[in-house]
Amino acid sequence: MSSTTAGSPVAAQSSAPAHRVRVQDVARAKSEGRPLTMLTAYDALTAPILESAGVDMLLVGDSLGNVVLGHGSTLPVTLEDMVRATGAVARSTSRVLVVADLPFSTYEASPQQAFASAARLIQAGAHAVKLEGGSPRVAAVRLLTEGGIPVIGHLGYTPQSENALGGPRMQGRGDQGHRLLADARSLQDAGAIALVLEMVPADIAGTITHALTIPTIGIGAGPDTDGQVLVWSDMAGMTEWTPSFVRRFGELGEALRAAATDYVASVVDGSFPDPHHFRQH
Ligand code: KIV
Repeated sequence: MSSTTAGSPVAAQSSAPAHRVRVQDVARAKSEGRPLTMLTAYDALTAPILESAGVDMLLVGDSLGNVVLGHGSTLPVTLEDMVRATGAVARSTSRVLVVADLPFSTYEASPQQAFASAARLIQAGAHAVKLEGGSPRVAAVRLLTEGGIPVIGHLGYTPQSENALGGPRMQGRGDQGHRLLADARSLQDAGAIALVLEMVPADIAGTITHALTIPTIGIGAGPDTDGQVLVWSDMAGMTEWTPSFVRRFGELGEALRAAATDYVASVVDGSFPDPHHFRQH
């Protein structure tokens, strides 16, 4: 059996600007009414492909736990896991704003703990960090912001609190909507540069979006946010099941299975390698 060398990621055309997306560009998008696009990314193979599609931001999400590491939730994800994935995404891209999630138990104890953890992600190549939660996170957001680390907040369904919230379910219905708006305002006042709103009723997401000067980025929160984020493997149809708020923009899982099936069959029937793929001497 001959050995092979891994190739470079697929290059694609993009109409996106060549310069690095900065936090100032994120703020400007809201004032200009330009929708922001964000996808998750976890490695150096797929990140440049997603970047070349013209996305503004790549989120090294702690969904890494479910998507890549085979965990049933984001809770087991460690700071080391996130540092490694963040480095891979940062090294393999040159234009996108790289945002890295602070994983569970690395920022909740104190603002100082949050700063130390966020600094590791920034040193790995992130340009901003994201953390989950509302008013209890205000002090951490302020300290990070004052220390030069841009922060994106995450409200609504916050997967790191899945045990307290009783699993993935809509947040902010009824009276909870006021609480969500108050949390959003306090994160903005503390210096957050944007907010992810996950699984929030569309009308509440719209209300929050109009009340804030910083952009909101929705996932399962309807169309009235300043941008959208999806887990890339959901977006691309890598798995059989996708959440109800996801549109499958491709069927990559099926395409990969078909390619691998063809490969297996070709090795078994002897049609690969053929004379184009090896040299006799
Ligand atoms: O980790 C993640 O993928 C996220 C998105 C769902 C926003 O936080």
